[in-house]
Formats: sequence, C-alpha cells, structure tokens
Amino acid sequence: SKQKTWSDRFESALNPAIAIFNASIGFDIELIEYDITGSIAHAKMLAKTKIISDAEAQQLESGLSQIRTEYQQGNFNPGIEAEDVHFAVEKRLIEIVGDVGKKLHTARSRNDQVGTDIRLYLRAEIREIQQYLRKFQSALLTHSEQHVETLIPGYTHLQRAQPLSLAHHLLAYFQMTQRDWERLEDVYKRTNISPLGCGALAGTTFPIDRAYSAELLGFDNIYQNSLDGVSDRDFAIEFLCAASLIMVHLSRLSEEMILWASQEFSFITLKDTCATGSSIMPQKKNPDIPELVRGKTGRVFGHLQGLLVIMKGLPLAYNKDLQEDKEGIFDAVKTVKACLEAMTILLNEGIEFKTARLSQAVAEDFSNATDVADYLAGKDVPFREAYNLVGKVVKTSLAAGKLLKDLTLEEWQQLHPAFEADIYEAIAPKQVVSARNSYGGTGFDQVRQAISQAKSLLNT
Ligand code: ARG
Repeated sequence: SKQKTWSDRFESALNPAIAIFNASIGFDIELIEYDITGSIAHAKMLAKTKIISDAEAQQLESGLSQIRTEYQQGNFNPGIEAEDVHFAVEKRLIEIVGDVGKKLHTARSRNDQVGTDIRLYLRAEIREIQQYLRKFQSALLTHSEQHVETLIPGYTHLQRAQPLSLAHHLLAYFQMTQRDWERLEDVYKRTNISPLGCGALAGTTFPIDRAYSAELLGFDNIYQNSLDGVSDRDFAIEFLCAASLIMVHLSRLSEEMILWASQEFSFITLKDTCATGSSIMPQKKNPDIPELVRGKTGRVFGHLQGLLVIMKGLPLAYNKDLQEDKEGIFDAVKTVKACLEAMTILLNEGIEFKTARLSQAVAEDFSNATDVADYLAGKDVPFREAYNLVGKVVKTSLAAGKLLKDLTLEEWQQLHPAFEADIYEAIAPKQVVSARNSYGGTGFDQVRQAISQAKSLLNT
C-alpha cells in the first residue's frame, strides 16, 4: 500500500482524490530554492545552539545543496505524494543523507517554514518589480525628453480642456510609478521580518536563536509574537495592493494608448512589432498589448480581493486556508512583471507620436478659451466677468464656424476694449502651454525641471 505521510497515529494513506485535493506541490515548487535556503539557515542555527552537532549541520547543508543542484538541473521533480515542497525536500534529504536528515525539522513547523519561504520569495520579487518599474520609467523619460515642445490636447471629462506638453502628460505616469516604487520599498520593510522559530504556533521548547537564523537569511527583524508570526499575511495583502495600483496605472496608460491609436484620435502609430492584425479584416492594426494589460488588471485585483477574503474569518493561528495564498501571489507577481515589460517594449519601440497631427489637433479647438479669460483678468477685468464674456464669444464663434484665432481685432475690441493685437500671440497653442509655468504645471520650463528631477530619481 501507499506510504503514509503522518505519524503512527495514522493507519492508512489518504484517499487518492483527497491527496490531490490537499496537495500544494503543484504550485509551491516555485518556493523550492527559498525553502532550501531557509532550511540551511535553520540547520546552522540548530548547530550554533548545540541542538545538533556541527557535523550533523554540515551533512544537512550539503544534502540540501545537492537537492538545489538536482532541481536546477531538472532532476528533482517531486510528485503529488510529497504533498508540498517542504515535505518533498525533507523526504529527498533523508534519502541523500540518511537518518540525520530526520533531525532537520527539530524546533520547526511547516507553519513557520512556509511563512519564511513566502517572505524570502516576495522580498526578492519586490526588488525585481522595482527594477521593471525603473525600466518603464526610463522609457517614459526618453519620450518625454523628445517631446517637451510637442503639444497634445489635454482633456477633462474626455472633452478638450487645455493643451499640454506631451512630456508633461507622460511624466504624470512617471510620478504614478514613482509612488509605486516607493510603496514597494515600504512593503519590503514589513515583508522582510522572520517568522522562523515561531514553531507551529507557540514557539518551541528548544533553546533556539531566532535572531541568528534571521540574520543568516538577511531579515531585518523577527516577529515578536509566535501566533502572529505564523498566521500573518498582512505583508502579502500589502504587496497585492501595491501590485493592484501598478496595474491601475498601467491600465490607465493602456486605455489612453488604445484611444490614441484609434482613427478618431490618430495621435500615435503602432509599429508592426507591437501590433496585431485581424483574421478577416485586412485593414486592421490592433493595439493588443495595451488591451491585454488593461484586461490582466482584473486578475491582479482579484488576487487582492481573494486574499482579503481568505484572511477575514481565520481564527488564530495557522489554518490550511493559508495554503490558498500562494497561487494568487505568484500570479500577481508574474502578471505585473509581464505587463511592465510589455508596456516598456511598447514605449521603447512600438509607438510613434504623430506630431503633425498633434499640432493640428491643438490648433483646431477652443482649448485656448481659458487663456482669453486669463488675458482679460491680467488687464484687471474680474475673472468671472471675463469668463462669462469669453463663453459668449465661444458660442457665437461656434455658430459662425470660426475659431478664436479667426476673430478680427475689431471683433475682439467690440467685445472688450482691453483687447490689443497681442491677443493672437496670447492664444497661440505654444504660448498657451508655455505660459502655464506655475510649479508642477505644463509650461516648458516646468517640464524641463520635472525631467531633470525624474532623471535623478532613476539613479536611486
Ligand atoms: N503547504 C502548506 C501551506 O502552503 C504548508 C504548511 C502546512 N502546515 C500544516 N500544518 N498543514 O500552507
């Protein structure tokens, strides 16, 4: 009959369907390198505290290292009978080093073990995602430097509002992803805390040294309460929050790119390496990349919601429900990295801004109306009065099929005697943008300063 996993309290093996249902090896194999690293630190700690001998710790370490090599070379593929990665490694260790392998689990439980593994995994992935964010930001910066004086319509309510420097528009995404980077920095702090040595829930009777194993593993701190240590997944929820916000930002940019690539906007051209066609409509060129990024946002939000719901009803301490934390975390990590990479490639080689079309776009609307009102307000006409007056001009111009720049000086002066010949200069698109030179505004000087600040952030 099949070998059973549990102590001699058990007389028979699990029902095969239940064994499959119970197992996590199918996905937690992802943690194997961290599991081995954690076990080596645990073995060293056991030797330092004389719970096992130095020679025994040596044997455990070399056996564990061998499993790492076997795994890396594709020669360690534990099946469902191992239940999870922790049992798989321990079982193989005993095969390799013999009975001494049975000492590894002294003063440890899979509960503090899995908590250690997932933290080691997540802290490494946080650093990776931060690198992906930096590459994405640098792609934004490259476009920004080229397009300080390229104008693009700015919208509120998706109605033409005021024209912008294209660089200013792109730098808004730089700022969002800068917050994302900083948020991950913060999540890292609460991820990098060691639960190892919390035991199953209550600590252990052995004279362990938690600070030592934590130090070996590069943790900044250790959990103060063993119950909290084995059952806390706050850091994972915080990570999924941070991941969700990254996706919000990528999804908003995606939405804009999809609009910009449409015939109605025509602000960008999609290059062949980053666009797709239709199986039936020969003329089509589709923005699949940003659409997929927008679509994948949903699954990351789902993983955040999933883990929140897993946690909300759990009594202390470990419950098997916690095994359900992993797939969502793994998938969120993979999705965020894949989306950041795809969007970075899209920015670097997949889009071209249609500058002629953009400069025509900002010249053909009433998005300089605020500037007429500002012009009058600058000549001591109270702003609200100026605002109403310009509203009237917009109405009559619309009816006459004219733009503000088409009004004669006479017409301007009939409206208000304060108008002079410099009104034409004041409402020219370039001037309108460059004049918004308040701190953080779209004025070219502001944008150039923003670019140099962004550049210096990239080097941190
Ligand atoms: N596979 C389990 C998990 O992912 C490991 C911890 C199991 N602990 C236990 N007492 N059943 O959470």
